[in-house]
Amino acid sequence: MTITSTADAAIATDGLRKSYGDLTVLAGVDLAVDAGTVFALLGSNGAGKTTLVRILSTLLKPDAGSATVAGFDVVSAAANVRESISLTGQFAAVDEILTGRENLVLMARLWHRKDRDRLADGLLARFQLTDAADRRVATYSGGMRRRLDIAMSLVGNPPVIFLDEPTTGLDPQGRLDVWKGIKELAGQGTTVLLTTQYLDEAEQLADRIAILHGGRIIADGTLAELKALLPPATVEYVERQPTLEDVFLAVVRTGGTAGGAGNDPTAASTSEVER
Ligand SMILES: Nc1ncnc2c1ncn2[C@@H]1O[C@H](COP(=O)(O)OP(=O)(O)O)[C@@H](O)[C@H]1O
Ligand SMILES: [Mg+2]
Repeated sequence: MTITSTADAAIATDGLRKSYGDLTVLAGVDLAVDAGTVFALLGSNGAGKTTLVRILSTLLKPDAGSATVAGFDVVSAAANVRESISLTGQFAAVDEILTGRENLVLMARLWHRKDRDRLADGLLARFQLTDAADRRVATYSGGMRRRLDIAMSLVGNPPVIFLDEPTTGLDPQGRLDVWKGIKELAGQGTTVLLTTQYLDEAEQLADRIAILHGGRIIADGTLAELKALLPPATVEYVERQPTLEDVFLAVVRTGGTAGGAGNDPTAASTSEVER
């Protein structure tokens, strides 16, 4: 199967630009995310990941370029976009005083869902929170809160979900638990765009990975395609998993030939790989 064109992508951006005063954060970002896939936007702290997610979720207007989410333009059809998405930020938006179940039922009420208890039970089970369902969130670990937060974002059954650094700040076990929850999202037809600073996280969760650096997508492909960019020496002599930095350095060395539109506008077509 060929990767779909941007026309029927669940998320597509074309030449997105955003500056804060003199600081150019996005300098022309081109992306296409197929419906029903998990897409990781990988970038170091300050790369512009949150800025891009805020534009895609209509919280911020781009200076130039365009973007569509679920087929709707993020500027001219912002209300339609908002009805099609959920956004889970780096900081959990759950109520501490309520139990996990109460949080979910409250959210279900806000969404006018009828099957509230059944919905809550199902989500609690999917995110391994059944045992903690009737405890106040104040007693939850960071990983449990983050999982509840993701579960909350699913109550409205949105076709597109944004997870902005879903595991940042969690301990290793919390991270693994959240990964498990995110894997649950895959294969259910939901499109997930997650941001991360960690290649291993992208590797665990994503069908495709794009690296955001210097305001552009400098590489875009499957994990295998990105790792193929690493010079053989890196793989031979580095006695650890290749990191984002390894891939990034390799991409910079090779002039960004990973299918990202970063350095060469004509390179975009190389991202149309066979699956
Ligand atoms: N509202 C703002 N005003 C000025 N600068 C900002 C604002 N928001 C973010 N920035 C700056 O833009 C850059 C990208 O930020 P951000 O999108 O949050 O990156 P990331 O999420 O990848 O860490 C950073 O240098 C940050 O300090
Ligand atoms: Mg951020």
